[in-house]
Amino acid sequence: MSKDKVFVGLQHAVANCRRCDLWKTRNNPVLGEGNLNAKILFVGEAPGFNEDKQGKPFVGKAGEILDQLLNSVGLKRQDIYIANVLKCRPPQNRNPFPAEVKACSLYLHSQIETIKPQKICCLGNFATSFIMKKFGLQDKLEGISKIHGKTFTVSTLAGTIKIIPLYHPAVATYDAGMLEPLKKDFSILMEA
Ligand code: URA
Ligand code: SF4
Repeated sequence: MSKDKVFVGLQHAVANCRRCDLWKTRNNPVLGEGNLNAKILFVGEAPGFNEDKQGKPFVGKAGEILDQLLNSVGLKRQDIYIANVLKCRPPQNRNPFPAEVKACSLYLHSQIETIKPQKICCLGNFATSFIMKKFGLQDKLEGISKIHGKTFTVSTLAGTIKIIPLYHPAVATYDAGMLEPLKKDFSILMEA
């Protein structure tokens, strides 16, 4: 099956998904957006207010920061794919519950298996934990302030994947001082 067809199926699946209770309060699911042949996959946490409204990832304030960071290393949204761990917005942007992450995991697994990225950039603690556990790196898991900017290389049947945890761009929306460490992390991502 073509990548496009897989993603059409996934879009349909999340639009009708009731695997956890978040379907009750969401307006639009956010599967993700970008280039299905991207070498770099970004994984965030969950849709926020604006994402839920528009059905697209990182279109609010965190998205503005993300665009700035992508720009700083010469990347455009069309070059990459952006997904989240959860496809529906948690009420008041609360943290995802473990049961929600588990219920939603099949979609992100399928996105990763279809896109086959060479690098996975984990934005924040939830994405880092999900991706590191998926690839058997749970023993190396640390909080994002310790682990950000490190590179982990894993071999899979689809080839080698580099996993790079970064701070979540939203941290720079309430602490402008975080922009510099974020930029540094993004340059590490390009060199990895
Ligand atoms: N924060 C996220 O983690 N994902 C989005 O799509 C928007 C904000
Ligand atoms: Fe389904 Fe995921 Fe939405 Fe829960 S968050 S309803 S599992 S798509």
